[in-house]
Amino acid sequence: MPLLRDDALSAAFDHAAATYDRLTAANPGYHAHLRRSARRLGLPAAGRRLRLLDLGCGTGASTAALLAAAPHAEIVAVDASAGMLDRARAKAWPHNVSFVHAPAERLEEAGVTGPFDAVFAAYLVRNVADPDALLTAVRGLLVPGGRIAVHEYALGGRAVDRAVWTAVCRGVVLPAGRLAGDGELYRHLWRSVVEFDTAPDFGRRMARAGFDRVRILPLPGWQTGITHTVVATAPGTREAAA
Ligand SMILES: C[S@@+](CC[C@H](N)C(=O)[O-])C[C@H]1O[C@@H](n2cnc3c(N)ncnc32)[C@H](O)[C@@H]1O
Repeated sequence: MPLLRDDALSAAFDHAAATYDRLTAANPGYHAHLRRSARRLGLPAAGRRLRLLDLGCGTGASTAALLAAAPHAEIVAVDASAGMLDRARAKAWPHNVSFVHAPAERLEEAGVTGPFDAVFAAYLVRNVADPDALLTAVRGLLVPGGRIAVHEYALGGRAVDRAVWTAVCRGVVLPAGRLAGDGELYRHLWRSVVEFDTAPDFGRRMARAGFDRVRILPLPGWQTGITHTVVATAPGTREAAA
């Protein structure tokens, strides 16, 4: 079975939206790790006068993490799945958060234009058909010196990392996904991680896409060696842009 992409992936997420929050709530560390990755953007002044993009916001878990790190920022949260977005929109948000239904590859058509001071992309990049093109486009949306945090299942590269990921999927994720009626999406989750970059390879991919100061940061718990935050900046400095 090929990996799910584009409309097929959105349709799978539309269906999974009903149970997504319950499944992620059962994943120890899911929300705390998102908050940690959002804090790693190092956003100043609680986000005052900043404009942030949450790419692949899903049901809003990453948006909530971004909001916790920068409660005063303007946050635009985008997702390609209408079902996931409906769940996000149904939650209570302050006026500085807005949601847009669009694929990350076609933001401009949906009226989402830069510049942004920072981008957060949690569990998105591994899912897109052309990660290099996406990362290059995202870099172009950032102000000079703007920041990106990619929070992703990108394995550490040791055999044990892959073995733990496969064991967690076989023992927990795949059975839970099948029970929820979303077996195909959760099989995609397992395989897309195994077939995606290791964290060091992903760091190199970020550098190739033109990002500076790429750092790969670990996360604790069972996700050690499995989930990472990759932070980087767009070339230039804010002062030079002013
Ligand atoms: C695993 S969920 C993560 C959601 C959220 N960021 C979180 O941390 O809970 C991945 C999300 O990315 C969205 N997605 C996948 N490919 C996309 C694309 N090309 N453009 C926009 N959203 C996409 C899916 O619809 C889904 O809601």
